[in-house]
Amino acid sequence: MKAIRGATTVNSDSAEEIKESVKELLTEIKTQNALNPDEIVCVTFSNTSDLHSFYPAKAAREAGFYSAPLFSALEPEIDGALKKCIRVMILTESNEQPKHVYLRGAAGLRRDLTNIINIALDGPAGSGKSTVSKLIAKKLNILCLDTGAMYRACALKCVQSKIPVTDEKSVNEIISVIDITVKHENGVQHTYLDGKDVSEDIRKPEISMLASTVSALGCVRTKMVQLQREIAKQTSCIVDGRDIGTNVLPNAPFKFFLTASPEVRAKRRADENLQKGFKSSYEEVLADVIKRDEQDASRKIAPLKQADDAILVDSSKMSIEQVVDFIINKIQEKV
Ligand code: DC
Repeated sequence: MKAIRGATTVNSDSAEEIKESVKELLTEIKTQNALNPDEIVCVTFSNTSDLHSFYPAKAAREAGFYSAPLFSALEPEIDGALKKCIRVMILTESNEQPKHVYLRGAAGLRRDLTNIINIALDGPAGSGKSTVSKLIAKKLNILCLDTGAMYRACALKCVQSKIPVTDEKSVNEIISVIDITVKHENGVQHTYLDGKDVSEDIRKPEISMLASTVSALGCVRTKMVQLQREIAKQTSCIVDGRDIGTNVLPNAPFKFFLTASPEVRAKRRADENLQKGFKSSYEEVLADVIKRDEQDASRKIAPLKQADDAILVDSSKMSIEQVVDFIINKIQEKV
């Protein structure tokens, strides 16, 4: 006896959508496994507790599973689990190697069966990239790489070495031997500079402008981009930055450009600073945001720019949850 497994997701708790998704999943399983109905022992469904409006077993009958016993179960709520998800397990007497089928974003549940997924998320300072990418990474069970943290670590290194961030020759010397690593602990990125965890130090407001300036240097970008590509090659991840869709991962299958008005972004950053215990006035933060936008967008190498094939998301009037749902839905449409 063999177990064929599969899963799919829906965008909303709509009876029609659940029915269609289950039928699509079962049809795909039948085709890929050349399933003989007489060999099916039983079919078990389970779905997440956010779906109530349709009984998946009913869709199975409509998809031609007439005689097999059907079971259905409701899954308990598990933090971080993929939402609006329907799973199936079909026991069959066939001895063929089973082909498991994961559709509509459910592929993220089986990293062992799927290819690496890279998502590029670019946008200006304060657009909410890092918050959004952390939440998406958690939902899709993938890694989240904050590339701004790496440029911030370069800026911190210059400060520690008492080198002006505009002195390309001296920066080049330290960049050639700089030791920056990122580690993910419980889904949280920790940035290490020369073996020391500098995750908090690099968030200080004075580092922001220095990071923007140092990131314009060719020697810095070459080294950081190489590191970023190595990480993205090895694991499914959402990478946030300024040039991910245009330069670091130009072939990423999913690209988003997240923005918001400078005023909204400045307000978010000022609130964030306050929460972290750094004092900053809204006016100062707004001036910094505008200056950084100009600097990041006007530099010669890999400027901040929306990739032609990136989806624009203006979050000025959207909540974080709305942005996350929008992006996840777009991803699930394509997977
Ligand atoms: O996202 P952030 O505010 O932590 O980024 C700090 C600076 O680093 C930003 O002003 C520009 C630079 N940066 C970059 O040039 N390219 C990236 N991919 C990410 C950040």
